Amino acid sequence: MVKLKKIGNIKIIICQDKQEVAQEGAKIFAEDTKENPSIVLGLATGETPVGMYQELIRMHKEEGLDFSRVTSFNLDEYVGLSGDHSQSYRYFMDDNLFNHINIDKAKTHVPSGIAEDVSVSCQKYEGDIKAQRGIDLQLLGIGSNGHIAFNEPGSPSESRTREVGLTEKTIKDNARFFENESEVPRKAVTMGIATILEAKKIVLLATGSNKAEVVARAIKSPATTDIPASFLQNHPDCVFVIDQEVANGL
Ligand code: PGA
Repeated sequence: MVKLKKIGNIKIIICQDKQEVAQEGAKIFAEDTKENPSIVLGLATGETPVGMYQELIRMHKEEGLDFSRVTSFNLDEYVGLSGDHSQSYRYFMDDNLFNHINIDKAKTHVPSGIAEDVSVSCQKYEGDIKAQRGIDLQLLGIGSNGHIAFNEPGSPSESRTREVGLTEKTIKDNARFFENESEVPRKAVTMGIATILEAKKIVLLATGSNKAEVVARAIKSPATTDIPASFLQNHPDCVFVIDQEVANGL
């Protein structure tokens, strides 16, 4: 049984463990997709959403959850990695979700990490989102330094899709996915904070004791560029789905 809480604008669903976080997250995505089969989803990578994607795949296979009319936009991509690199976020999305559901790949968007002109490519990404009349439902994780997407501490609230440098903390956190730390790209293309905040509804998933302190700061400290996730306090429809270990920090 989940517990519900609200702090400021932020609704909080407290789950027992990460399995329940995956189920509750998937429930929101499935319900909104059933209600609006042409929904525009904002999607995220990282370890946290994997269980939720597995649950959505199960719902597709066992319950016929239909993604055929869905459009998606991912938050970010490493600079220098093409979509066939096993650590690229395009590869991650194909492998963890898109290859297992009936989404039209032509309607799935991930920023390019290998664009010849990055700023043109970023502007086009923003234009593509606008052409779909914006993102209906955005999924987020949170970095241990408070980043959302690759908007690292110091990112302005009005930021848009752009190329950014990664902090040492993020490089260290993400080194577990690479052979060694030196292989982690130092740059990424990311949706900006303003891009994310324009989504009509936002769901942030966080699990594990290492996220407890940063989630508490994101919800309770005044909104600050030091903790980019704290800008979510200004969003009218944002829900955090967290496990008990994260909730212990609140
Ligand atoms: P994680 O990453 O899910 O792998 O912890 C979250 C993030 O950096 O946004």
